[in-house]
Amino acid sequence: MANTILVGAQWGDEGKGKIIDVLTEQADIVVRTQGGNNAGHTVFIGKQKYVLHLIPSGILRKGKVCVIGNGVVVDPVSLVGEIKGLAKLHIKVDADNFALSETAHVVLPYHRELDEQREILKGKNKIGTTKRGIGPAYGDKAARVGLRMIDLINPARFEEKLRVKIKENNEVLKAFGAKPLSFKKTHDAYRDAGDFLKPYVANTVVYLHKAMQAEKDILFEGAQGTFLDIDHGTYPFVTSSNTTAGGACTGSGVPPHRMDRVMGVMKAYTTRVGEGPLPTESSEIADLLHGMGREFGATTGRARRCGWFDSVATRHASMVNGIDELAVTNVDGLDTVDVIRACVGYRVGRQMLDYITNDVELLGCCEAVHVDFPGWKQSTSKARRWKDLPQRARSYLEALAELTGAKLAIVSVGPAREQTIFL
Ligand code: GDP
Ligand code: IMO
Ligand code: MG
Repeated sequence: MANTILVGAQWGDEGKGKIIDVLTEQADIVVRTQGGNNAGHTVFIGKQKYVLHLIPSGILRKGKVCVIGNGVVVDPVSLVGEIKGLAKLHIKVDADNFALSETAHVVLPYHRELDEQREILKGKNKIGTTKRGIGPAYGDKAARVGLRMIDLINPARFEEKLRVKIKENNEVLKAFGAKPLSFKKTHDAYRDAGDFLKPYVANTVVYLHKAMQAEKDILFEGAQGTFLDIDHGTYPFVTSSNTTAGGACTGSGVPPHRMDRVMGVMKAYTTRVGEGPLPTESSEIADLLHGMGREFGATTGRARRCGWFDSVATRHASMVNGIDELAVTNVDGLDTVDVIRACVGYRVGRQMLDYITNDVELLGCCEAVHVDFPGWKQSTSKARRWKDLPQRARSYLEALAELTGAKLAIVSVGPAREQTIFL
């Protein structure tokens, strides 16, 4: 399969987990390179639902190695919970199939608390974060005051560093009017998690380079989506990492020239959780999808905002990620729609825009300009080959790929593995 970077081409929740699970069959190693447990990647195997937050979705296939790279921020207590939860579902996570970078930064309780307090302070201007402490943890990393996994597994060093950090952050929390944290409680819970995770902690950069020398194929599992990227997204309504393809290199230590292809995952429509502009937002499609019990967040359970497909956005995503191939998911979500709309430009007053502006306020005022496609009005969920799809569905998908500027490679017509069409 060669080394593949998989990214979300919209605002997250594009169905990356499902596509990763499908592609893992041909890979040897699956690596997460950014984000933290703000991610929620859903995979169905038969009737069993798995939601992965930190562990790569590749863990569900036997004989594959999963790696959490240096670019990820890790909440160790949550990670231990995830590993134990998977064990209950008979998914084995052990030192043979899982490694965790020693330089991944640790998310601490004060990060979560600060995330929450900052959101409260922002009031109506809040970002709508997942409250997992992601922003403050990456903030400490950039400010060079973070703790890393290598510190967590060294008891004396962890105790010393944590003591200083708790003291400092308690002052900040007090200023917010929030409850200070207990050093002892935090220390004990994190040390337990550190002991549990120690067997997995490794120099994953060296591991991945050795694997490449042995000609192993690596799949880089993106989290979030292009427009949540800290540099390329709808700032400040973004997450705190590089969710675009470059993040796979910095977050793993695998250099750009070793990457063979970039696959972009996008829904046949658009969703977004949290605040910030969504030019194609439509109550019509939101009501339809929510009425079908779809589009509720995998991490926070929040109803996702929904809109029509936005090709202005996906074309930009194709450009910044260098997307070679597209996987379009949730095609079946449009099975009952009479007239399907796709955005091909934005109107602001009398001005027309054919690109996604960096002025987030202006983007918030953009009205989508659509082209209409006749709906196929029949179920696609049993289609297994391209030719099984209704002609109107094929035309719509071909138009999405053309508008986005990349090759259509995978079409997904349901959450299950077998509901996947390869072109
Ligand atoms: P991720 O964060 O990108 O991995 O996406 P999520 O798992 O958060 O959300 C995608 C949702 O769509 C999940 O509930 C998946 O099970 C579901 N899903 C993925 N592909 C399809 C599809 O083609 N059809 C349907 N009906 N559901 C899908
Ligand atoms: P996956 O990997 C969708 C959103 C939050 C919020 C913003 C910042 O499942 O696609 P954060 O907690 O990261 O500081 O929140 O980013 N967000 C996601 N939206 N899918 C995700 O991950 C997300 N991770 C963060 O809703 O708007
Ligand atoms: Mg998700």
